[in-house]
Amino acid sequence: MKKTISTLALAVSCTLAPISAQADDEALRAQAQKVIADTFATMSGNLMRAMAEGGPAKAIPFCHENVKGLAAELQKKHGVRIQRVSHKPRNPANQASPQELKRIETMQEALSAGKPPQAELTKEEDGRRIYYAPIVIPAETCLKCHGDPTNVIAPADLKLIQQLYPEDQATGFHLGDLRGLWKITFEAPTPGKS
Ligand code: HEC
Repeated sequence: MKKTISTLALAVSCTLAPISAQADDEALRAQAQKVIADTFATMSGNLMRAMAEGGPAKAIPFCHENVKGLAAELQKKHGVRIQRVSHKPRNPANQASPQELKRIETMQEALSAGKPPQAELTKEEDGRRIYYAPIVIPAETCLKCHGDPTNVIAPADLKLIQQLYPEDQATGFHLGDLRGLWKITFEAPTPGKS
């Protein structure tokens, strides 16, 4: 009888393991999506306020000075690392790694086939989990600073961008283009803790 119970317990725990891992993945995805929604709302709220007050001439230096601080506050609030990476970065610190460039390429292929690009949750060798989600240009406003440099971005704004970001690559985008990826990193739990 005892044997039957322990065999049963083993059977149950074996079948439960993948289910709970799946539940963990779902929880991480949901948390990452919440972080992204909060970060996007905070950043675009601040950006739109600066745009309303003084157009790109005010909003460009505003982004230059404040994006890092805003991201740091949000990281502290959510306990995760928040980054944006791109194949055509404005800030060179946001350059996508070769591996991330492959993800961007796959998402671009999906977009050009008319399918929505899928977010991905990875498991790194060191145990960290990373959630990548596509950033697709959602509004015309974005193009005032990321659109065609010859006829969409105003010449004075382009000059300001080039002064602050001499290596800028983040122009020439259209509505619906993939601008880059959100990268939300969950640190691995410290061994011995939790
Ligand atoms: C007023 C100009 C302006 C507008 C409007 C604007 N951006 Fe940006 N964007 C910037 C600047 C400046 C940076 C670089 C910030 C930094 O120093 O990290 C940037 C950086 C980014 C990045 C990070 C990757 C990189 O290239 O460094 C993404 C992604 C991005 N913008 C997407 C958008 C989207 C989507 C919109 C519309 C919702 C938008 N931007 C609207 C000026 C703008």
